Amino acid sequence: MDFNLSEEQIMIRDAARDFAQAELLPGVIERDEKQQFPAEQIKKMGELGFLGMMVDPKYGGSGLDTVSYVLAMEEISKIDASASVVMSVNNSLVCWGLEHYGTEEQKQKYLIPLAKGEIIGAFCLSEPEAGSDATSQKTTAIDKGDYYLLNGTKNWITNGNNASIYLVIAQTHPEKMHKGINALIVEKGMEGFVVGPKENKLGIRGSDTHSLMFTDVKVPKGNRIGDDGFGFKFAMKTLAGGRIGIASQALGIASGAYELALKYSKERKAFGKEISKHQAIAFKLADMALQIEAARHLCIKAAWEKDQKLNYDLSGAMAKLYAADMAMQVTIEAVQIHGGYGFVKEYHVERLMRDAKITQIYEGTSEIQKIVISRSILQD
Ligand code: CAA
Repeated sequence: MDFNLSEEQIMIRDAARDFAQAELLPGVIERDEKQQFPAEQIKKMGELGFLGMMVDPKYGGSGLDTVSYVLAMEEISKIDASASVVMSVNNSLVCWGLEHYGTEEQKQKYLIPLAKGEIIGAFCLSEPEAGSDATSQKTTAIDKGDYYLLNGTKNWITNGNNASIYLVIAQTHPEKMHKGINALIVEKGMEGFVVGPKENKLGIRGSDTHSLMFTDVKVPKGNRIGDDGFGFKFAMKTLAGGRIGIASQALGIASGAYELALKYSKERKAFGKEISKHQAIAFKLADMALQIEAARHLCIKAAWEKDQKLNYDLSGAMAKLYAADMAMQVTIEAVQIHGGYGFVKEYHVERLMRDAKITQIYEGTSEIQKIVISRSILQD
């Protein structure tokens, strides 16, 4: 067993760290306050290959492994989780889904610009009444011969307004339950497709989250991903990898908050010495460092399993569950170590604490991860 990173993995991690410091840190507080999408920064991330990291270079990607992706996600998330969720959705859900299940024509038309970061994509599963219970899709895709007639509403869609391509999950054969669901590629601008207002969120306020409305949208048959009825499996398989991305996001949010708390604790003095020299603070830092390291191992293990073409449903769910809960605890402690300064925006940790919360909710809540984990360990 070798715990060392390769030279290439270290280079990717350092490039992501440098990019985050140089390009994402300036203005991150203002973007959060104004709920401003980091459009210029995302464009640069695309140019550097961060939006199609694992895609084969023949489809415009960087051809890297999932471990490199985890390392880059951690570094980007330390500074700006609103940017890293764009990166996670584009890489893990949209590009991965198209590369693995799309036709050659779909790859040529959609995957190449997505992997190059020329455009970004969105993954549309959640509905007003279908969040955790994802099989209860009310959006319908009625088979009309050459096309599907798409009707319904999707909720909480990351990249909702800025995406050009939307992977939409919809029910075609309700009598077949989840086996009647399809995944369709919908282009922005298709007639009958309307983007709803932007959600005013607690955290990741720079990312643009919208509801989407589809009214008699004609989606060509050629835009279906996989065989008729493959849509639910497509969503589950894609989300299994997405969970590694969100786990790494949670890891990065926590390690960003920890690094700030560590630095502050060595500068701030109370009762005649640095607060890091008080056991109450030193023990908090020890707990935080331990939890972060444990989460990092879980993330890298899940990524490694994915790279080895092993089943990563269990390891990805474990990584996400642990990293998300850990990020919540660590960021709360980072605010506590900063005292009053932690409660004001200039010190970043209050934003990281708000950003951490979503990692326990999206791409499967912590409770859903426990369903996935328990089913996996209890199966014969
Ligand atoms: N891989 C392949 N197939 C899978 C699978 C996987 N990982 N997980 C489930 N399936 C298959 C099952 O085998 C089953 O198929 P068969 O009937 O052919 O055997 C089918 O899917 C249905 O599975 P279940 O009976 O287990 O379904 P369920 O209703 O009990 O639900 C669940 C399972 C795990 C709870 C699932 O509903 C789930 O993951 N829910 C959470 C949804 C979610 O993560 N939403 C996030 C929204 S996307 C998002 O947040 C993106 C963003 O913008 C950031």
